[in-house]
Amino acid sequence: MSYETILVERRDAVTLITLNRPQALNALNTQVLAELGKAFADYDADPAQRCAVLTGSGEKAFAAGADIKEMADKPAADFFLEDFFSGWQSNVVATRKPWIAAVAGFALGGGCELAMMADFIIAADTAKFGQPEIKLGVAPGMGGSQRLTRAVGKAKAMEMCLTGRMMDAQEAERSGLVARIVPAAELLDEALKSAALIASMPPMAAMVNKEMVNMAFETGLAQGILTERRLFQILTATEDKREGMAAFVEKRPGVWKGR
Ligand code: CAA
Repeated sequence: MSYETILVERRDAVTLITLNRPQALNALNTQVLAELGKAFADYDADPAQRCAVLTGSGEKAFAAGADIKEMADKPAADFFLEDFFSGWQSNVVATRKPWIAAVAGFALGGGCELAMMADFIIAADTAKFGQPEIKLGVAPGMGGSQRLTRAVGKAKAMEMCLTGRMMDAQEAERSGLVARIVPAAELLDEALKSAALIASMPPMAAMVNKEMVNMAFETGLAQGILTERRLFQILTATEDKREGMAAFVEKRPGVWKGR
């Protein structure tokens, strides 16, 4: 499939997906969602691909939100009947393999929400995060009120949602929203390096580690710890576990089968 709103490249075992509507600051419309859905599904289905990076085009924006022009005149009943925004869960969040958001410039509204769907965010020192939907008479609709609150706590999330104020990269790192900050010029290289490191790990273990950490947001502590233990026990049945432990003992790098 050829894409119009995103670019997809495969760099060894890493899939690089670039939002590509710079004239609209990468605003997220229905076509972007459909194309991202296809790109993430292809990534998930390709055993040769082991980590992905999602980034924005240009330095100005990762994404400045859901496409306001697409939503401006849409009847309320259509939002409900189409279950508008539900596709982000099924097309993007459902990705089972790891992926990183590399954010430079604005990540606002749906752009901030999309970044927070990633397994972690690496931010350029130019990154700015915000949920300014209130200024449009609405509120976050792609998970922002929930993921931002879990990431940075109620006080900051509530202030950001109620005032629309942006958080810069330093505050975002201090608050736990981003894994680390890098100079803007190095953002893509750093994100690709992190992705290559993840891609070098045993792939089933990567998927299980992702699932386990995400479970901390979905379930209570006792259930989460029990599920973690069971998943750990299941991983011990893999060929990669046998190989990983043998490689450690024999002081050599492991060679992964992905099963
Ligand atoms: N939707 C559609 N188009 C957008 C857009 C968006 N979210 N954000 C920017 N654009 C467009 C602008 O309309 C403009 O297009 P034209 O040249 O055709 O006029 C182009 O991108 C460049 O934008 P600006 O001229 O506004 O650039 P700026 O540097 O002056 O300002 C900005 C940058 C502060 C990010 C400003 O563009 C802005 O405030 N954008 C909207 C941010 C926003 O409110 N996001 C939330 C959207 S609602 C949402 O996301 C709902 C949800 O929960 C999922």
